[in-house]
Amino acid sequence: MQTAYSREQLEEMARSVPVWFHSIDLGQGVLTNGMRTAPHLARATEELRLPDLLGKSVLDVNAWDGFFSFEAERRGARRVVALDHYMWAMDQAEHFRYWKECKSRGITPQPYHTMPYYRPDELPGKAGFTMARQALQSRVEDVVGDFMEMDLSGLGSFDVVLYLGSLYHMRDPLRALERLATVTGELAVIETEAVELPMYEQRAFCEFFETNELNGDVSNWWAPNEKALAGLCRAAGFQRVEIVSGAPERWSRRGLRAAAGGMLRRLSPGKKETGPRVVRYRAVAHAWKCGEHLSDHGHSSDPDSLQIVSNIQSIYDRLPAEGRLRIVIRGANHFYFSDDGALLMLRSVLVQARA
Ligand SMILES: C[S@@+](CC[C@H](N)C(=O)[O-])C[C@H]1O[C@@H](n2cnc3c(N)ncnc32)[C@H](O)[C@@H]1O
Repeated sequence: MQTAYSREQLEEMARSVPVWFHSIDLGQGVLTNGMRTAPHLARATEELRLPDLLGKSVLDVNAWDGFFSFEAERRGARRVVALDHYMWAMDQAEHFRYWKECKSRGITPQPYHTMPYYRPDELPGKAGFTMARQALQSRVEDVVGDFMEMDLSGLGSFDVVLYLGSLYHMRDPLRALERLATVTGELAVIETEAVELPMYEQRAFCEFFETNELNGDVSNWWAPNEKALAGLCRAAGFQRVEIVSGAPERWSRRGLRAAAGGMLRRLSPGKKETGPRVVRYRAVAHAWKCGEHLSDHGHSSDPDSLQIVSNIQSIYDRLPAEGRLRIVIRGANHFYFSDDGALLMLRSVLVQARA
């Protein structure tokens, strides 16, 4: 990577920020020491199944240090806007000290925005984004604003909107998605904490966290299951939704253990009733404002795969409707049926069709 700074200068820039959330490659072999590690971010980026961003306008809502904004720019986006306010307003070193202390003492933290370390006039938590943008000589624009409260008309509309790690932090997720739909021109990529209750996949529900039940964090409110996530997006005004990274395989060992554990507990008299165990995971939805795909990245063009796809399509067409819910294909690739029955190929997602 070409950079205007020496390795020593970049190391100094990385060190000058007390807390990094994202591990960002600043060039010359210098990586910021983020809580989200580089391998974790690489895997998360792959799971987003981003479309071709060349020439696109991209809005990254709740960008924090901006890893995904810089990644969109690196992929050739014409314009990228990083928007945030919440973590940018925090002295993050103080915040994480407080959060860890509450966790170790088993007490519920106060809402973070009521703490003295929440300083929206100074934006101490924006240092990482600002420093990374300087180091990368990036043209990513920044907007300081609460996406839930700000006037969205001034923001305009973007071809692709990223809404990553945010939905479960919202008190009102349906309203959040409605606001997201108003700024989305083509596609919103929504990544969120999600939940599955084995055996209840066909019901749409969200788990509610009154205080800090999820990860000791009082800023977590809701985790949808796959069906609720897709339904929320449609109810918010998106025309078409694909869950591109869904729940772990239904009959995986984890899912089976959770389901069997729940049943056993209910059948064992005298055993403390803890309720059914849920499977937690991160889901990714592609929510489209238009019926068409932005690109055909989900389709395979190699002849072997096309033959396999056509064989599977014909098996699928002959199945009774109730047999079409999930099909897992063993081997190198998994396949996905879109709502209208077209067969798409994905790399790592198990198949879901017509819920
Ligand atoms: C888990 S981080 C995700 C950051 C980044 N998008 C990513 O995926 O790595 C949550 C983001 O949501 C923002 N946010 C906005 N409103 C929030 C709220 N009420 N509670 C918690 N986080 C909020 C935070 O500032 C933070 O950037």
